[in-house]
Amino acid sequence: MNMINDLKEILIKEETITKRVRKLGEQISKDYEGENRKLLVVGILKGSVIFASELIKNITIPCQIDFMALSSYGSSSETSGVVRILKDLDYNVEGSDIIIIEDIIDSGVTLDYLLKYFKARNVNSIEIATLLTKPARRKVDINVKYLGFEVPDEFIVGYGLDYAEKYRNLPFIGVLKEEIYEK
Ligand code: IMP
Ligand code: MG
Repeated sequence: MNMINDLKEILIKEETITKRVRKLGEQISKDYEGENRKLLVVGILKGSVIFASELIKNITIPCQIDFMALSSYGSSSETSGVVRILKDLDYNVEGSDIIIIEDIIDSGVTLDYLLKYFKARNVNSIEIATLLTKPARRKVDINVKYLGFEVPDEFIVGYGLDYAEKYRNLPFIGVLKEEIYEK
């Protein structure tokens, strides 16, 4: 079965994403260069993996990488509102300059939880880089420093984002047909 048949439309082309992510990498490299910054980028599994790998290729200053896995959607298209850590960080983050890398901010509940988690661990600074944001759905206000694109209130897949673990490997961002997740 062709995955593209399940899409209503292609929202953001691969080339457009690549260009935007290059810009974000340049901006981060400028913002964090020099002195005694200890940049640690933390990718949130699994949705952010493609964005995270693309982004760190475009960061030209030294940085460390770590990953966390959180429970969010299960196989439903609605968030449960409850966040659970499935895989914690490998190292102590005290004193680090953290950038959390997310695929998409929807309600904001996940990031609200993560920001509290990091603040409690005495990090030096914390910012968010997200490929996408769906502002229409926000329940908690989240301050995003590095943003790829704003998307409409639809179910988005591709470039790491899934529906029931499918479509992550699409190299662009698409909108899933309603009939797929309403079945
Ligand atoms: P939040 O806690 O509601 O902000 O949810 C964030 C998480 O929900 C993201 O990291 C995604 O894994 C997932 N999510 C939210 N909207 C979408 C979507 O349109 N497509 C795929 N995953 C989504
Ligand atoms: Mg996710």
